[in-house]
Amino acid sequence: MKKILVTGGAGYIGSHTVLALLEKGHEVIIVDNFSNSNPESIRRVEKISGKKVKLYTCDCCNLDEFATVFKENKLDAVIHFAGLKAVGESVSIPLKYYQNNLISTLNLLELMKQYHVYNLAFSSSATVYGEPKSVPIFEDFDLHVSNPYGRTKLMIEDILRDFSKVNPQFNIALLRYFNPIGAHASGLIGEDPNGIPNNLVPYITQVAVGKLKELGVFGNDYPTPDGTCIRDYIHVCDLAEGHVCALDKLFTNCGLVTYNLGTGNGYSVLEVLRAMEKAVGKPIPYAFKPRREGDIPACFASPEKAYKEIGFKAKYSIDDMARDAWNWQKNNPQGYAK
Ligand code: NAD
Ligand code: UD1
Repeated sequence: MKKILVTGGAGYIGSHTVLALLEKGHEVIIVDNFSNSNPESIRRVEKISGKKVKLYTCDCCNLDEFATVFKENKLDAVIHFAGLKAVGESVSIPLKYYQNNLISTLNLLELMKQYHVYNLAFSSSATVYGEPKSVPIFEDFDLHVSNPYGRTKLMIEDILRDFSKVNPQFNIALLRYFNPIGAHASGLIGEDPNGIPNNLVPYITQVAVGKLKELGVFGNDYPTPDGTCIRDYIHVCDLAEGHVCALDKLFTNCGLVTYNLGTGNGYSVLEVLRAMEKAVGKPIPYAFKPRREGDIPACFASPEKAYKEIGFKAKYSIDDMARDAWNWQKNNPQGYAK
């Protein structure tokens, strides 16, 4: 049993990972400022697991407040989810993204060093690959980013690589997530976006539940079999397991490691729509729209390295992901607000 600090633990991926950690018998401490989440998610994680979580309502950008967490707890590792993630908003308000994502991470590193906590898993993103030269994408591909959100992820990766060179006692996992979707099978926790969703699956589920009129499919003239973009959708519970595997690796004193967390399978927008229609049991209205700026035709992981080195293999299918995304949405049409 280890004592794990989870920053951003009330969020979408964080809440599912906290649950996975509790189920493995770890003790979890969450730090969250609820800028994009609701404390109800933590209550529900406690309900599902039958275990308690220690919560600090705190902004990781506030060094003094954040330090209290380290003073009061002898931690074994940190999983750092806290961050802002909306690509479009990062283009309109770049400083907010640089401030929040970079300062929170710099504070975290200072505190980890000061309090001798040497194991860190960081939420990076497949966005650091930009438009890849080919698919599947391997971890050693060139990195390039095209928006402030993506730049914060790449900058933090660079910071961590620099930091690791001169702090060899640190073990750091850079985890590059592909497209997390779905929800815990209980239907009690899931993705609860603010306002109109930017991402595909929450948009579809909100159309299915009657909150939005129709899905706009961004582009049907891409060089893909059906003309719509291809992505590597991964069940959020698989992603949560990926963190458990990565933590085990950190405890082997591995230094800095980098892993894709994806399934290795690519599905087009229309294929996801069909899977969602099957889960919902009725057609979902949609219309083709122009391409969305910044979208790339195809993006999917090589999951080989994560499998070989940390034994991670995604087990849920696209139909499982669709079923669980719908189960969450239909049970919680207003997200955590109700
Ligand atoms: P989320 O917004 O649901 O969770 C992030 C959590 O961090 C929220 O609870 C938010 O309130 C909290 N937070 C933000 N800034 C904070 C701060 N300064 N101090 C304390 N808490 C703070 O997002 P998510 O989908 O769970 O993503 C988690 C991480 O994974 C993020 O870093 C995100 O960039 C990264 N990521 C997400 C995706 C995705 O598709 N969801 C893909 C790749 C990477
Ligand atoms: C997006 C971000 C990425 C971020 C990830 C997780 C962009 C360009 N990329 O990835 O940086 O890490 O979310 O937050 O924003 N689609 C539609 N209609 C919609 C919504 C999406 O057709 O209403 C299509 C998109 O064109 C894309 C696919 O669905 O082809 C998936 O989109 P989305 O869920 O937003 O994920 P990404 O764009 O892959």
